[in-house]
Amino acid sequence: MNAPTFRAAIAGTGSYLPSRILTNDDLSKMVDTSDEWIYPRTGIRSRHLAAEGENTSDMAAEAARRAMAAAGVAPEEVELLIVATITPDSPLPATACHVQTKAGLANATCFDVTAACSGFLYALDVARQFVMAGTVRTALVVGAEKMSAITDWTDRTTCILFGDGAGAAVVRRADEGSPNGILSCATGTDGSLAPLLFVEAGGSALPTSAETLAARKGYVRMDGHTIFKHAVRNMASVALKAVSDAGLSPADIDWIVPHQANIRIIQAVAKALDAPMEKVVTNIETTGNTTAASIPVALDAAVRDGRVKPGQNVLFAAFGAGLTWAASVVRFGR
Ligand code: COA
Repeated sequence: MNAPTFRAAIAGTGSYLPSRILTNDDLSKMVDTSDEWIYPRTGIRSRHLAAEGENTSDMAAEAARRAMAAAGVAPEEVELLIVATITPDSPLPATACHVQTKAGLANATCFDVTAACSGFLYALDVARQFVMAGTVRTALVVGAEKMSAITDWTDRTTCILFGDGAGAAVVRRADEGSPNGILSCATGTDGSLAPLLFVEAGGSALPTSAETLAARKGYVRMDGHTIFKHAVRNMASVALKAVSDAGLSPADIDWIVPHQANIRIIQAVAKALDAPMEKVVTNIETTGNTTAASIPVALDAAVRDGRVKPGQNVLFAAFGAGLTWAASVVRFGR
């Protein structure tokens, strides 16, 4: 006999952006750059940065609390917590364990997922599988990053791009008879392209040492030009796959919530999907690229200001280091 399968739905969202703001003009005092260079190429004008002593788990816990409040879910109901991050508080234990303590999720099994900017969608897919299998009824998926900790503030080619923040979604078994829920998740990876976007030191292959610190090997390095091309191609194709797996066509999509890496990447993906920019949720102008937090932060803003409504079809698409890519179609609501 086959195990019962259930539909998983997004029951509530939450987000947190730290209050400190770094503008392009601020950056122009730190490195040789300008708002005139940054804004037209990226769409970014400012980004939020965590305060001294404010960690990934603090931002994640606040986003998680807000998502639980929106879903009307008590902390003890959460059976699974997945935190997507590439900026864990420390290598050990998983940041999810700290979030469990801070958000009071005493009954949750907790672990992290590492898939860079695709991390939230990878984690959403994992949570969905647990709910569909009937293993858990209520899960919490959080994307949280303190990118400022791994950004080289002397490298103008990368430091202009990133920001800090956290976003969360409660993933629950859909209400009986509801047509809403996560309709599809599509993911992909090409590890042979890992050298395009990486942090060299700080892991077991090259532990942090005086030499790695002096050579600034603990920070993000990137071939931005090549990444840009792969991002457009892979985000568009995985998005089309997720739409087709959901049994829909691009015209059926009400909202696209893409990973916020570069406004020109977002525009190219929208064009490939034949979607007007009016259907695309963007906040990159004021957040920069918050990696795994980017999609849930943008989604939460669009839910709270009433753009995304229950019953609408929402497409998520992401791309990041790995290289990884992912997309998901959700009929919003429980
Ligand atoms: N300010 C001023 N000049 C800058 C600069 C900055 N912040 N960063 C780079 N430059 C200079 C370069 O040194 C280069 O000068 P040169 O021609 O004299 O050598 C010139 O601008 C062009 O650099 P290039 O890297 O070719 O620019 P680009 O048009 O590719 O734009 C990015 C750079 C990073 C904005 C763009 O490649 C990008 O967004 N890529 C995707 C990155 C991304 O999204 N990564 C995360 C994926 S999840």
